[in-house]
Amino acid sequence: MLTTFSELVEQKQPETATNRETSAKPPATKIETKDLSFFYGANQALFDVTMAIPEKSVTAFIGPSGCGKSTFLRTINRMNDIIDGAHLTGQVLIAKEDIYAANVDVVELRKRVGMVFQKSTPFPKSIFDNIAYGPKIAGMRKKSMLAEIVERSLKRAALWDEVKDRLQDSALALSGGQQQRLCIARALATDPEILLMDEPASALDPVSTARIEDLVFELKQEYTIVIVTHNMQQAARISDRSAFFLQGRLIEVGPTKQIFTNPNEKQTEDYITGRFG
Ligand SMILES: Nc1ncnc2c1ncn2[C@@H]1O[C@H](COP(=O)(O)OP(=O)(O)OP(=O)(O)O)[C@@H](O)[C@H]1O
Ligand SMILES: [Mg+2]
Repeated sequence: MLTTFSELVEQKQPETATNRETSAKPPATKIETKDLSFFYGANQALFDVTMAIPEKSVTAFIGPSGCGKSTFLRTINRMNDIIDGAHLTGQVLIAKEDIYAANVDVVELRKRVGMVFQKSTPFPKSIFDNIAYGPKIAGMRKKSMLAEIVERSLKRAALWDEVKDRLQDSALALSGGQQQRLCIARALATDPEILLMDEPASALDPVSTARIEDLVFELKQEYTIVIVTHNMQQAARISDRSAFFLQGRLIEVGPTKQIFTNPNEKQTEDYITGRFG
């Protein structure tokens, strides 16, 4: 059972612009939803969610299974578009632009908003080709440029040292933790602004999980990160802000420390302290 925030945060996060509470200038809003509702056919999965997510920070989505975390995450890069009979009302804005406007190029949008899933999903191709895939689709043909992108992306995903001598090997021969970092590298290869992660470490051992968490901490210097996690310790360790969902509704969102130590809503407190149910 969770008691204090300091117990949750085993290693104290170093202060950065985004987790310093008295930061002089508040970071700009990167993602914003306004009265967002989402429907799978007749079933409503999200109810009027209004939320602002600051840039270059980590926001954790928490809440019980089925509360709509993944649905909400997928609205941010229009991953739900392909689901038959699904539709939404309200707005999703990235850098103040409505990403559901008629003139938005969804392929372009997904380059700006990368996504990493719970189950790592490498293509049955070489490590190199997995990373080069996005840039190639985008029209990049020059070998030397592709090699540069592959190296840079793998370095950013803290995988380079482990794979640099076997880039032509199949990605499927990597360990689970390595495959997950490969998928992060693949998402980074198109130079996104936002990285969405849906339980990226839930299938990993503690060492691989710690590597992913360190990586998230590194990446937030450059990217806006939204991560879904069922692991409360993980949310407390790596996120600047947390959003608690229940049955398709956003119950509250705020600085992680406040959500975990002094939430405004009783439902949040019950969930955080494990009394939910
Ligand atoms: N493709 C789909 N078709 C129909 N209903 C769906 C679909 N995906 C999700 N739902 C429903 O929408 C609701 C929210 O699901 P969602 O996957 O967003 O929850 P979640 O919070 O991510 O849960 P979990 O923690 O288990 O991953 C659930 O009632 C679920 O059954
Ligand atoms: Mg989910």
